[in-house]
Amino acid sequence: ADPEPVQDFCVAAPHGSGGPAFPGLPCKPSSSVVSDDFFFAAHARGASTDNAMGSGVTPGNVEAFPGLNTLGVSINRVDLAPGGVNPLHSHPRAAELVHVVVGEMLVGFVSTEGRFYSKVVREGESFVIPRGLMHFQYNVGKSAARAMTVFNSQLPGVVFAATALFGAEPEIPDAVLAKSFQVDAEIIKLIKSKNRKG
Ligand code: GLV
Ligand code: MN
Repeated sequence: ADPEPVQDFCVAAPHGSGGPAFPGLPCKPSSSVVSDDFFFAAHARGASTDNAMGSGVTPGNVEAFPGLNTLGVSINRVDLAPGGVNPLHSHPRAAELVHVVVGEMLVGFVSTEGRFYSKVVREGESFVIPRGLMHFQYNVGKSAARAMTVFNSQLPGVVFAATALFGAEPEIPDAVLAKSFQVDAEIIKLIKSKNRKG
């Protein structure tokens, strides 16, 4: 989905060096590019799932892996404890291919027509999430589960449904949320209390 590259590569320069560039980030001088710029080891280990969601995502976007700059791809690792969920979210700039490496998870998205598409995806199987649509992964197995998620963008962006609506800074007025969800403000305050920092 990102623009086509016009050169072999453009390894992103460290933050703060180089001027602004569009698309993507400024390139490191080619003379200082090394093999390790095209290598990413952070996915050899998973993130902790010891949290309220039972989920840990390790991003592998251009910010974590500068060699991806201008190449139009990126990859995350998703770890889920039994019963854990990578909560409802969307990526404004990319489709997502979910490839399950360990365990089994229910993977689903909702289309613009309000139709819910989902599947229990097991080791070695994949499911694709169209760009921009709300989706999740939910570990329905008895043991830990892991997926690698691949994107057609170097920086897919992520909007978490609950935190975007109930944890925004400054906050969205309770009256707007109460009307939008057709519930009383008390319920909105309760959900906000679980999504606001501090
Ligand atoms: C999973 O949905 C991810 O965005 O990595
Ligand atoms: Mn996703």
